[in-house]
Amino acid sequence: MSDRKVLVVANWKMHKTPQEGLTFARQLKTKALNLPAVNFILCPSATGLLHIHGEIRESALELGAQNLHFAEQGAFTGEISASMLNACGCKWVIIGHSERRYIFNEPAGDRQRKVPAALNSGLKVILCIGEVKAERDAGATAEVLKAQLANDLGGISRFPTDQLVIAYEPVWAIGSGVVALPAQVEEAHAVVRETIFQLFPSISSKHVSVIYGGSVNIANAAQLIATPGVDGFLIGGASLNIGDFVTIAQNAQTALKAEH
Ligand code: PGA
Repeated sequence: MSDRKVLVVANWKMHKTPQEGLTFARQLKTKALNLPAVNFILCPSATGLLHIHGEIRESALELGAQNLHFAEQGAFTGEISASMLNACGCKWVIIGHSERRYIFNEPAGDRQRKVPAALNSGLKVILCIGEVKAERDAGATAEVLKAQLANDLGGISRFPTDQLVIAYEPVWAIGSGVVALPAQVEEAHAVVRETIFQLFPSISSKHVSVIYGGSVNIANAAQLIATPGVDGFLIGGASLNIGDFVTIAQNAQTALKAEH
């Protein structure tokens, strides 16, 4: 596994104008040259996609969207289709972020349609799952993760390991400054992999990528990436500042090298 790469995803949520995103992408492009073990994905608002694509198209940085609609086109005011994202240079799309689930009350059935819509269009998917605090306190974390995976992957018959990444994001850790303990992360990631192998018994033995999100910062990145079963990070708050974001990536790369 000496060629292991760490996935470092910036989820800017509803932050940064296209110009601000462009400035960040330009700076990251240079800094990323020193971080060959890091696979960077930038997920700006839809308004910034095309600008940032123009800036990073010749670089190793990749572009992702924060959401999509499952229909190809139609009368869906305010929505964006997979083909539109592809046309803006996206390689990735985030599906099922907890803010979509709990703030916008996204119906569970939508994710069953979004995942195949994205995959069939050639996009790679970062599917977010995670328990809320009450569920963890009730000892129901594993059960919740299994149910979310069973539902959200219910629209596909094959799990494409090269196109689908699961992000474990405990909701209580998102934007809270309270990061999950390494043991909790390790356990949750193991549940995710176990569940996927149960849901897709014919899956090839290839590695299923599972990344962690929830208050990742410069102080905890090294320990988290060294946690067994962690392939990278989905980063909200700390991805807004280029200095912090690059430091997290550096720390992750250094910790990764120390493993070998
Ligand atoms: P956070 O957000 O890093 O600000 O906790 C993570 C996320 O929501 O993906």
